[in-house]
Amino acid sequence: MDFFSYRNGRLYCEELAVADIVAREGTPAYVYSKATLVHHYTSIASAFAELKPTICYSIKSLANVNILRVLRDLGSGFDVTSGGELARALAAGGQADKIVFAGVGKTDREICEAIDAGIMAFNVESEEEFANLSRLAGQKGTRVHAALRVNPDVYDPKTHTYTVTGKKETKFGVDIERAMKFFQTLGKDKNVLLDAIHIHIGSPIYSSQPYVQAITKTLELIDRLREMGFPIEMLDIGGGFAADYEEGASPSALQYAGDIVPLLRGKGLRIVIEPGRSISCNSGVLLSEVQYVKKGGDRNFVIVDAAMTDLIRPAFYGAKHFLYPAQLEPGQEPPPRKMEYVPPGAVKVDIVGGVCESSDFLAKDRMLPPMKRGDLLAVFSAGAYGFVMSSQYNTRPRAPEILVDGSGYRVIRRRETYQDVIAPEL
Ligand code: LLP
Repeated sequence: MDFFSYRNGRLYCEELAVADIVAREGTPAYVYSKATLVHHYTSIASAFAELKPTICYSIKSLANVNILRVLRDLGSGFDVTSGGELARALAAGGQADKIVFAGVGKTDREICEAIDAGIMAFNVESEEEFANLSRLAGQKGTRVHAALRVNPDVYDPKTHTYTVTGKKETKFGVDIERAMKFFQTLGKDKNVLLDAIHIHIGSPIYSSQPYVQAITKTLELIDRLREMGFPIEMLDIGGGFAADYEEGASPSALQYAGDIVPLLRGKGLRIVIEPGRSISCNSGVLLSEVQYVKKGGDRNFVIVDAAMTDLIRPAFYGAKHFLYPAQLEPGQEPPPRKMEYVPPGAVKVDIVGGVCESSDFLAKDRMLPPMKRGDLLAVFSAGAYGFVMSSQYNTRPRAPEILVDGSGYRVIRRRETYQDVIAPEL
């Protein structure tokens, strides 16, 4: 669900035609809808309200400080995975006691920064990391809070292998079988209060069933730990709720909550949720201008001014984003957002960028209306893992990020210049 729609043949973000925005700001550009962000955050908050969860928006999916401010104003905390993300959360005015810090490779510097900030919990991923955290907290004469990240060995077969995290064979967390041992040996530490469990089973997870399996296993673990005298107070169920790359592809927040809330009701646990994509994905589009159209053998290439440097998901994961001209020809119908939709007069095309790599594509074998130089193309569902994964490869300055709010917009990250790219080298 989002607030991007066609009106009189023009794509609008809320009350603004996107073509009017890029006429001033240029392409490529990321355009986000504030109303969509707010909608998804509040849907999750109200679906899970009975549990009074701490929602820690996962910064990695869309990290702009101005986006974080919008979510902070709605009451969101943050899930961070680096010192840099912690700095963003704090720069956005995030409350330290609503910040959780996950990641398998936390450095001493990052740990110290998070201790100094007074975050809610470290999501600890190994015995060695725990020992290091204890040492650093001890040196600072303080006691910190930690959750053990356990790996419940559950996954959704629809999740790309690169983003599966809940299986035993991944680098994340400790196997659920090892968790008891972990608590027995480290659970009474004087510098780290270990009274919580964290899971994150992957991203995206297209049904609630993997959550049900993982939470059920985790609750059994919590029961056993409590029986052994470890008073577990908090359960962080991670992120991974899906988003609509196509119309209606993902379950609603209410559907996830409908299956998850009954499991957690009355368990005496403070619940944390770390949604990223389900809030940010449908909030953003990437706008790009057609530069050239050419043939290569039997293939038709539409070459645009965005590239894998702006949106790497198609090249990296084989991800499919719905894309379509932002300006329709007279008589053309607005498309349903379905990959297999074939508009009248469609041509099979590859949408590619200008980077010197054959993997530089935004879509392959897509049936789209004929396009020509100067046309504006919208890549939908690009809010999550879009701009944040962009790079300057081929010395391409990164695109601007623009936030639309009703009939107004703000550039929340200006377009980079050549100077921005080169300056650190001079
Ligand atoms: N919590 C933890 C510990 C995570 O590792 C992640 C994502 C999240 C929460 C948020 O997951 P979400 O709700 O956004 O699905 N670049 C990939 C996705 C990588 C996800 C990494 N971890 C992609 O473009 O699909």
